[in-house]
Formats: sequence, C-alpha cells, structure tokens
Amino acid sequence: MKILIVGSGGREHTLAWKAAQSDLVTEIIVAPGNVGIKHEPKCRLAKVSAEDVSGLRDLAQAEKVDLTVVGPEAPLVEGLVDQFEEAGLKVFGPRGQAAALEGSKVFTKRLMAKYGIPTGEFEVFDDFHSAEAYLKSIRGPIVVKADGLAAGKGVFVCRDRDEAMAALYVTMKERAFGAAGDRVLIEECLEGEEASFIALTDGRHVLPLASSQDHKAIFDNDLGPNTGGMGAYSPAPVVTREVHDRIMSEVMIPTVRAMENEGIPYLGFLYAGLMIKDGIPRVLEFNARMGDPEAQPLLFRMRSDIVQLMMAAMEGRLGDTSIDWIPEDAVCVVMASGGYPGPYEKGKPITGIEDADALEGVKVFHAGTGDGSNGFVTAGGRVLGVTARALGIAEAIAKAYQAVEKIRWESVHYRRDIGKKALNRV
Ligand code: AMP
Ligand code: GLY
Repeated sequence: MKILIVGSGGREHTLAWKAAQSDLVTEIIVAPGNVGIKHEPKCRLAKVSAEDVSGLRDLAQAEKVDLTVVGPEAPLVEGLVDQFEEAGLKVFGPRGQAAALEGSKVFTKRLMAKYGIPTGEFEVFDDFHSAEAYLKSIRGPIVVKADGLAAGKGVFVCRDRDEAMAALYVTMKERAFGAAGDRVLIEECLEGEEASFIALTDGRHVLPLASSQDHKAIFDNDLGPNTGGMGAYSPAPVVTREVHDRIMSEVMIPTVRAMENEGIPYLGFLYAGLMIKDGIPRVLEFNARMGDPEAQPLLFRMRSDIVQLMMAAMEGRLGDTSIDWIPEDAVCVVMASGGYPGPYEKGKPITGIEDADALEGVKVFHAGTGDGSNGFVTAGGRVLGVTARALGIAEAIAKAYQAVEKIRWESVHYRRDIGKKALNRV
C-alpha cells in the first residue's frame, strides 16, 4: 500500500514512523512533512501544504495513493475527506460536517446538552453587548471561548469578570481570531485534572487507545500561556479502570451514537479533552484527530499495526478488533524555541539528536526542524518531541530527560516537570 500522511508536526512524524512498520505499507508520502521524516524508512516528502485540500487531492490521484491519513484539524473541517471521497480516494478521518465536533464549539456543546453528555454549563452569544451584559451578571472564574478554529488560542480561562471582559473584547471587538470569534461561548470553569482520551471509531464502534495527558502551559507547574502542548505521557493514572469505563459509557459511545443519530456519522480518531474530578469525567472539548504531542507516547507504546487498525475502522470492523500495547510507560518532552508561544528566532543549529536517538528505548520525533549547512536547525516553535519508553513512569521520565540533556541549541526551552502529575499518583 501507498500511504499519504497530511501534516508537518511531531504527530505526523510519529504516524509516519509507525506506519512504516506496517507490513501492508510499501511507501509513505508526507505532505508537507518535516526534514526528520525524510530519514524514516519508506518515507518521502511532497511539497503540498496541509491546507491545500485540492492540491492534496491532485497529489493523491497522481500518486495513486491507497490510503490518506490527516493529522491536523483545519483540512478536516475544510472538508478534505468529502473531496477525497468524491474523487474515489480512500481517506481516514471525519467528513467536514462531522469534524464540526472540533470546528464549532457551539455545535458540540449543544450536541452534548441534547444527549446528556457530561460537560460544564454554558451560554452562547452572537453579539458583544449581550455577552457583556451576561458577564456583568456573574462573578468568579469563567471561561470565554471563540466558537470556531483558532489554532488553540481562542480559549481564555479567566479568574474574574475583568479578565473575562478583556477576553470578550479581544475575541469579538478586536476580532483576534477573525470570524471564528463572531460567536462566543461563556462557560463554567471546571476544576480537576485534565486527561486526553483518544479512540478510533468507525461510526458505530468505539475502540479506545490508552489514556494520555498533555501539558498545555509553557512553563513548569502549568504556569504561563497555553501552547500546542509541551509534553505528554501515557498511560495517565488519573484515568483509573473505573474512570475509563465511565468515559467510554458516558462520553465516547454516547457521542458517536449522537452523531449517528444526527445523520452525521463520525469516522476517524475522536479525541476527548476531559476534566476529571473525584472520578467523574466532564468534557472540555473534542478534537477530530490525534493529539500532538499525545500521538508520540501513544504510538511509541502501541504494538498493534496502526494501518491495520485504520483499515478495520474504514471497513466497519472495529467491533471485533483490539489493540495491543507494550506494557511500559512512555513520556514525550517537547523541546521548543525560546520565546514560543510568542515570537522566536529560527535557524539555530541543533546538536546531539543522534546521541539522544542512540539511547535504547528513545526516539526523537521532529516538528519544527530544517536542514542547515551542517545538520538540523530550528525552524518552528515546537522543535522536537523527545520520547522514551520504560517500565514505570519514573524510569520513563528519567530516560526522556537523559535524552533531552544530550540535545542543545541556543535559547532552547523545555519543561522540567513532564509526567510529574503521574508520579504523584503512583
Ligand atoms: P479547549 O481548547 O477547549 O480544550 O481549551 C484549552 C484549555 O483551556 C483546556 O485544555 C483547559 O486547560 C482549559 N479549559 C477549557 N475549557 C475549560 C473549562 N470549562 N474549565 C476549565 N478549564 C478549561
Ligand atoms: N495536545 C492537544 C491537541 O492536540 O489539541
């Protein structure tokens, strides 16, 4: 089989590395990919942007690709899957309407309210003045969210009304996220510990992956602004057996059923971002794809063939499919450019990647890297995802940081506390 993977981050490097291990796969094209992916077996890059849906369709047709897998959300929400299917191409992911689970927070909140899926209380506003009036009527912490896609930046967790007013102003008056912020959600602020719960679904059956946890804030102890994710580990001990069962029966299965019932069946990776308190899960958001950096530790622990799993989903066979995991913990530490998620410099020469990769049970996944005259250079905010696997979370953390310490560039930044919450629970 010839596979096309759409995207250019650490998640896509991980998917390509994992797909290359499948006996079904002879060739992998990644569009646009990153320079780390070029060095993986069976892989090459194509210069087509992840947002150029018709360019990707032309590429898949010209290359006679047998299966396309989409990493990021934007092309899914744009209807990549619909366009590919119309052209007779096989693609793993939700159609545009179903990807609204990520593309419209209002759609998703209303769906959850209709079907009794646990989530925080919320109100929806299309105009600034009524949103402002509502904020004046409340006190205490509150969350303001742009309805549409805002590259992870459209969510403001506000300590008080003043912060909420400022968030509302940025979103609706300054239109910092464009049309995505023309409608806002004002939402109850939930407390607890976050976890990521990702499943494969064929529209009927839900096959859960292992649990994981992201670290969204830029600095240790969850301080500073949110990022795309500064590290992740799997499994997440906050998701006990009982919590897992509740997530499946109260969130994942009802959501897939709800979508089927609405006449917009959902096929693909379904990612629930959850807040867990006293063993009770509530939904913060859904994503229509794999997480980044959750994909790194998850796929690094997966023994099963990911391509076989996606084929089973596309053929509606997930009901009698299971996933085999390596019974170890995995940790991914993201190494970023100093300044990220704000402005940062690019082109810094990176040393030590080979030494880190040579450690047993370690894999360095690339995200924002480029080719310099003398090896890899930095070319993005999140640069590398240094991923390690070991028996026990403490050992996996130690190994990941042992690898991280071998890698250097001028003004590198990474969190020193990835996995600490899991350690506190074991
Ligand atoms: P989202 O993109 O909706 O997941 O929001 C990004 C981050 O904002 C989440 O990972 C949480 O850390 C935080 N967040 C979102 N919604 C809420 C909420 N209702 N209560 C508390 N924190 C939230
Ligand atoms: N790691 C968070 C996300 O992929 O949205």
